[in-house]
Amino acid sequence: MKYNFPVTRTTNPKPRPQDETKLGFARYFTDHMFVMDYDEGIGWHDGRVVPHAPIEIEPASCVLHYAQMMFEGMKAYRRPDGTIQLFRPDMNVKRMARTNERMCIPELPDDLLTAAVEAVINEDKDWIPTAPGTALYIRPFIFGDEVSFSVLPAKHYRFLIILSPTGSYYAANDGGLSTTRIYVQDEYIRAARGGTGYAKVGGNYGGGMRASQDAMKYNCKDVLWLDAQEHKYVEEIGTSNAFFKIGDEVITASLESGTILPGITRDSVIQLLKHWGVKVTERKLSIDEVIEASENGTLKEIFASGTAAVISPIGTLNYKGTDIPVANGKVGETAQKLYDTLYGIQTGTVEDFMGWTYPLNINK
Ligand code: COI
Repeated sequence: MKYNFPVTRTTNPKPRPQDETKLGFARYFTDHMFVMDYDEGIGWHDGRVVPHAPIEIEPASCVLHYAQMMFEGMKAYRRPDGTIQLFRPDMNVKRMARTNERMCIPELPDDLLTAAVEAVINEDKDWIPTAPGTALYIRPFIFGDEVSFSVLPAKHYRFLIILSPTGSYYAANDGGLSTTRIYVQDEYIRAARGGTGYAKVGGNYGGGMRASQDAMKYNCKDVLWLDAQEHKYVEEIGTSNAFFKIGDEVITASLESGTILPGITRDSVIQLLKHWGVKVTERKLSIDEVIEASENGTLKEIFASGTAAVISPIGTLNYKGTDIPVANGKVGETAQKLYDTLYGIQTGTVEDFMGWTYPLNINK
């Protein structure tokens, strides 16, 4: 193996969560993490696995002021035969490269992310949950920590990977699917053309929190963003991409505007639907078209897709204070089939007919 990251094992392992059906999302963290540094003139260096612990950061570090950072989201799964696998990590590598380019963060060698993930999971493999709907969530992130208030790219960065045994973001406790209420946000915006919408950066989410908090007033779990220019076309949901089944067509916002996060689950949903012969279209879809479809009975399903959200069906949209029912609030058959197939492939209970899984070289 090309990389050989030194490991410092914890002397104080944490108790494991007792009930895997109540993990929630990213509430527990494993015993180890991966850390690597970047210095201008040296490049990325000193990748290592160390005990998961608070890190020291100088208060004048640029990330704390100007948010030069990025993150990724991936998951590891344990197959019924005990082996461990990732899902399409090559897509995370490509997205990470695009985000780094947008954020002026120095690029990583293409094979580094997966090697680092493998190294840290090797230490914490016993943390991978196996209850239905669970996985080991992997959160790689990079931040600039040069001591500087100049609004310029940092000269020093840290790259960390932390791990969390987790259920899906909106999931019911039993790991099954349930529907959520989503608030259509028509005042604030998430991303505009030329902005960072397509990149995986904290600012996209930090800037959305005001809207998510408003959504909660309407008993909604998250927001459906509309486009920044006309506040008319559906874009994505707070944590995930959004799909709408109207009649026999499944529609999602196209990536062309640069305002949509290119989700790996989004791409997998599109490919699976095409494989099954379902008409799937990446196009502009106005909120008025969605409301009209709800009124005339052609709105069959809405669901969110994401690494954290997996497939999360939506039972109600709230728009301007009025509830728009989606398929009587029930879990739709497309969402259910997608969930069963995707999560089945990810966990190794459904044959990987798309060639998406990536076995880790870790002993059971
Ligand atoms: C993921 O799905 O991995 C994400 O990063 C979404 C996160 C905002 C919860």
